[in-house]
Amino acid sequence: MQLRRLWLTDFRGYREADVAFDPGLTAVLGPNGQGKTNLLEAIGYLATLGSFRGAPADALVRVGAERAIVRAEAEREGRELLLEAEIVAGGRNRALINKQPLKRARDLLGAIRVTVFSPDDLTLVKGSPGERRRYLDDVLVSLSPRYDQMQTDLDRVLRQRGALLKQAGGRVSAEVELTLDVFDAKLAAAGEALASARRNLVASLEPLLATAYDQVASESALVRATYAAPWMDEGLAAALVAARRDDLRRGVSTVGPHRDELELSIGGLPARTHASQGEQRSLALALRLAAHHVVAEHTETTPVLLLDDVFSELDPERSDALLRSLPPGQTVLSTAGGLPAGAVPGVVLQVRAGAVAPG
Ligand SMILES: Nc1ncnc2c1ncn2[C@@H]1O[C@H](COP(=O)(O)OP(=O)(O)O)[C@@H](O)[C@H]1O
Ligand SMILES: [Mg+2]
Repeated sequence: MQLRRLWLTDFRGYREADVAFDPGLTAVLGPNGQGKTNLLEAIGYLATLGSFRGAPADALVRVGAERAIVRAEAEREGRELLLEAEIVAGGRNRALINKQPLKRARDLLGAIRVTVFSPDDLTLVKGSPGERRRYLDDVLVSLSPRYDQMQTDLDRVLRQRGALLKQAGGRVSAEVELTLDVFDAKLAAAGEALASARRNLVASLEPLLATAYDQVASESALVRATYAAPWMDEGLAAALVAARRDDLRRGVSTVGPHRDELELSIGGLPARTHASQGEQRSLALALRLAAHHVVAEHTETTPVLLLDDVFSELDPERSDALLRSLPPGQTVLSTAGGLPAGAVPGVVLQVRAGAVAPG
């Protein structure tokens, strides 16, 4: 998998940009606030149809413009791909591969894959369980686009169930019960499927996570990752029945994969609350590295590594360790500071005020 070239129109601060990448390492340099992350975000958009910063699609369209276009030339297994995505503020997004419009923009998923490292990754360890669920779900979509459909189905039924619970306002009628029966059957099916995919993923990630942690941390430690779903033993259908009264009273769905947790521990202690900042950083890096390896292994395409200003957050030892533990493949890194020793880019890009120039 090679990303060769990227064209942007009205994406974030960019009016127009035309960027060529090195097959190995491309460095994106420039002071803060100039558009370095925006450039990496555009690459990421083609891979996931979303922003790795978690920004809504509207924020990706240049202020004052109606639509943004992200276009890339890539090569995969000897095949040339021209990928195009149109992001319409407040409207439907469209995508094309080799000029052929796709039925749904989601059909672009899987055409290219990325692994993103960002200074925000610390929230994977320190943040709420939702951050870790999103991490797992993003990796699943990288492994297979069908998980995107599974997540969409689950979100829909959760929204419907939530709306019904609120509407019922704690009052139980035969009609509410009947509708809940229908929603619960759907929720149980979609939820069991997604949770079991997440659990299998955690099982494949755990050994890689332990190895990756040893590579990036200054000292090795016992790292564990467990998928915790309190309902798993009885099954989601039974758990939903058991929780129904409570759900009606509270007006929310209290059990299901939207409440599950990816538990992380270092040396037997919960990483979120007990690990040092340095250990948490190492673990966050290790989570990204492990995901990268799992996706590379299972899809036989090495994702493009996007390193967004990560070196500014890391001490020199961790920077070196991260650089040394990165698997070979195409890498685009941005930095507002100097390049870490050992990073020798084939292409250097200078970004100033939303314009990119070879530097
Ligand atoms: N939708 C948008 N329209 C116009 N400009 C934007 C938009 N979104 C972000 N920007 C601009 O992009 C800048 C941030 O770029 P960013 O890539 O995050 O900088 P950095 O080089 O520090 O990574 C902001 O200062 C903002 O002016
Ligand atoms: Mg940035």
